[in-house]
Amino acid sequence: MFNPQKFIEESIEEIKKQIGNRKAIIALSGGVDSSVAAVLTHKAIGDNLTAVFVDTGLMRKGEREEVKKTFRDKLGLNLIVVDAKDRFLNALKGVKDPEEKRKIIGKLFIEVFEEIAEQIKAEVLVQGTIAPDWIETKGNIKSHHNVALPHGMVLEVVEPLRELYKDEVRLLAKELGLPDSIVYRQPFPGPGLAVRVLGEVTEEKLEICREANAIVEEEIKKAKLDKDLWQYFAVVLDCKATGVKGDVREYNWIVALRIVKSLDAMTAHVPELPFDLLKRISKRITSEIPNVARVVFDITDKPPATIEFE
Ligand code: XMP
Repeated sequence: MFNPQKFIEESIEEIKKQIGNRKAIIALSGGVDSSVAAVLTHKAIGDNLTAVFVDTGLMRKGEREEVKKTFRDKLGLNLIVVDAKDRFLNALKGVKDPEEKRKIIGKLFIEVFEEIAEQIKAEVLVQGTIAPDWIETKGNIKSHHNVALPHGMVLEVVEPLRELYKDEVRLLAKELGLPDSIVYRQPFPGPGLAVRVLGEVTEEKLEICREANAIVEEEIKKAKLDKDLWQYFAVVLDCKATGVKGDVREYNWIVALRIVKSLDAMTAHVPELPFDLLKRISKRITSEIPNVARVVFDITDKPPATIEFE
């Protein structure tokens, strides 16, 4: 049986040994894995760890504030928040292809991160990698390795959660006193809302996506379904439809709801949700968010569809 308290004690000692007096850096997204890795490492080496939250402008509503409140104010981590919204949105201008969007975001993220790593003279990179991340993707990657950043900086990689699975990481998160909003956070793709506003990423579509997503999350939590579902979110389609508000016909955006159950994201199915819940979400989105004409509900399982739309 996994014993979170014992793991925490042993892992703090191990991290101290691995890092010593060197400066370390971690990219903190607010997801449960990077959060637990950051808090454990902070317990081991204190302010020699710098956590970096890159605000790409592609985050969910309130995410940046929540990360600041939890990690800087409550847990006392040395946190740098980088406002990189303009850099990301400029780099994405005119780009419609999902894989191209992913590539641009991934590359820019590493560039921004490297700038901070250079500033603080980091020698170690802490990552929240868990077992499925390397078993399923790279299989043979060595447990001790270095990573070279684009401008040549080389960092030694430390992965305190390398042998763990998601349920164990959630137990650690609870034991470490992280709030439920982080312990039970739904998976969120690295490229963020860029793959949830289909086609070109614009401020208008992002704003609709953020607001609609906040409504979906709020209603699902109110209905106490959040812990049963794998992911529940809103997507803005890359096309418009006609709607009518009062006497006025308007041609406006379409929001799709994606709500799935899954164990590991390899397959997923759409559960039968209370119809009044779906109607309530739809009503709130069309009445509270300007420029949305319709809300549609995706009833496609994975396979054949993926969980994300892009
Ligand atoms: P799909 O859409 O392939 O998603 O069924 C499976 C799981 O992976 C997440 N996902 C991503 N995560 N970068 C990520 O870090 C990505 O580019 C990405 N695309 C999909 C998705 O949210 C789901 O949990």
